[in-house]
Amino acid sequence: MRILVLSLFLIAFLGIVKGQENFIKPGEVWKDIDGKPINAHGAGIMEHKGTYYLYGEIKEGNTWLVPDQGWECYRVPAGGVSCYSSKDLLNWKYEGVALAATTNDPTSDIDTGKVIERPKVVYNKSTGKFVMWMHIDSKDYSYARSGVAVSDSPNGPFVYINSIRPNGNMARDMTLFQDDDGKVYHFYSSEENSTMHMSLLTDDYLSHTKTEKRILINQSRESPAVFKYNKKYYVITSGTTGWSPNPASYAVADSVLGEWTNLGNPCIGNDADKTFHSQSTYVLPLKNNKNSFVYLGDRWNKLDLKDSRIVWLPLEMKDGKPEINWKASWIPITGK
Ligand code: GAL
Repeated sequence: MRILVLSLFLIAFLGIVKGQENFIKPGEVWKDIDGKPINAHGAGIMEHKGTYYLYGEIKEGNTWLVPDQGWECYRVPAGGVSCYSSKDLLNWKYEGVALAATTNDPTSDIDTGKVIERPKVVYNKSTGKFVMWMHIDSKDYSYARSGVAVSDSPNGPFVYINSIRPNGNMARDMTLFQDDDGKVYHFYSSEENSTMHMSLLTDDYLSHTKTEKRILINQSRESPAVFKYNKKYYVITSGTTGWSPNPASYAVADSVLGEWTNLGNPCIGNDADKTFHSQSTYVLPLKNNKNSFVYLGDRWNKLDLKDSRIVWLPLEMKDGKPEINWKASWIPITGK
């Protein structure tokens, strides 16, 4: 026990000396290995050849309120998508801007005047391409589309292709889920965010098939994060209260295209009703233990969006139920 405590102390001390991160500290400023705050919001992680790649919204510049919206439509200029890489989920190297925003071009989907949110990347084994999907919107969120970009390498640069309304449907908050058979499903809040849709992408992941399903009908859920456990499919979502936190909820299905049943809040303890002041964005399986995942969330600072914080917490499966508990500081065991 003494040796263990001493070793942990030594690891932490050496880490401070080398400027390394030894713990995840949800809600605190998290610095990359160059000492700069990680700028990746609404993020997702893709693992490729033993390296984790983190992609997220770049939030920079002043926050302003879009007038006459009737809701708290705070925003910053769309900053494009950042990429970071890591072997241990603690120390992140900035790989640069994976998808750059354009400037002064109101006709472009990815202009700084638009909204670029919740980027997610998957690797297509057959085409050898990395495919990014993201929520593209106008500053008043009425455009409600999904954009797609493609790259030959995980850290980009990604080339933007176009945006669409999948099969004609409105699409806002979104995620991708890649199943074990390589099929990729696009989950997105649709029908003015009242109902979630899920569409199977084509084999090249660049467009939507007609295979799709409405789920969580009229339940007004957003910020989907999907994972698989013991052959069942889980989606964690938030309610629709803009940048303000609300209770998360999880739903389960026996197959992706099957029936999804909402089963309640996976968070436990103080502030569980506010998802520990965060909103879900991704769930990453950990390899060392099939019951362990990382919950990735955003603690939005609506009045200064660039100061929004990352909230990553351990998600443990217990009797088929996901449980998320607050941890002020913790270490994800990535294993092999
Ligand atoms: C949230 C959504 C965020 C962002 C925000 C705008 O509900 O999850 O990604 O779009 O609304 O207010």
